[in-house]
Amino acid sequence: MARRKFIAGNWKMNTTQSGALALAEGLKDAIGGIDAMDLAVIPPSVYIPAVVEAVKGSRIAVGAQNMYFEESGAFTGEISAAMVQDVGCKYVLLGHSERRHVFGETDELINRKVKKALASGLDVIFAVGELLDEREADKTLEVNERQVRLGLADVSAEEMARVTVAYEPVWAIGTGKTASPAQAQEVHAMIRKLLGDLYDAKVAGATRIQYGGSVKPDNAAELLSQPDIDGALVGGASLKVNDFTAIVKAGL
Ligand code: 13P
Repeated sequence: MARRKFIAGNWKMNTTQSGALALAEGLKDAIGGIDAMDLAVIPPSVYIPAVVEAVKGSRIAVGAQNMYFEESGAFTGEISAAMVQDVGCKYVLLGHSERRHVFGETDELINRKVKKALASGLDVIFAVGELLDEREADKTLEVNERQVRLGLADVSAEEMARVTVAYEPVWAIGTGKTASPAQAQEVHAMIRKLLGDLYDAKVAGATRIQYGGSVKPDNAAELLSQPDIDGALVGGASLKVNDFTAIVKAGL
């Protein structure tokens, strides 16, 4: 069964209210009618309601960059899965390397969030990836395997239908250094094999694995043509209508 491509733009801590609106409206005009793949934008949480409104009537879905696993209560600064859904998000991004390395999120914390998001009905983009020194120490496969095993612990085969894995080598994020298509394909194939071991061939064959890390209009087509690369999680280039549009069109 062919996997449907999925390209998402992670805006990180960028844009302003008017800039976010202009970006969302520009993307709606440029790519909002594409139905050959799944598309999502992931704005800063305060701009989610405005972006949801702006892309209404298009095929662009909206996601949140983070959430906490508790239902509600004294968790200053956090947002819940129910809140994320309440304002119109389909997706939540969890396990991003900046959450892991800037904010110290552990595999166990990420796993609690993944389980809560899925139980609440959200789809999850679950990100993994090795640091440069881990790659140089030949630990790439080991690190990604650990993050997948622990992050997806107790996630059922049925729930995996709502999980997209994003492989983002940390050394390629925001650095302009992209993993070569062959380097990315190697890790994607390893992750797919691992999903076969953890679940079964059906889950392994159906789960989409996005690549992220300096995806740009000029490298997107080659990355997206690799057999186990099913889409992209785009950072910097997702902040420009023309660049994100070119990346999406490279995947058609
Ligand atoms: P860049 O595309 O800016 O390298 O960011 C990738 C990323 O972290 C997306 O989540």
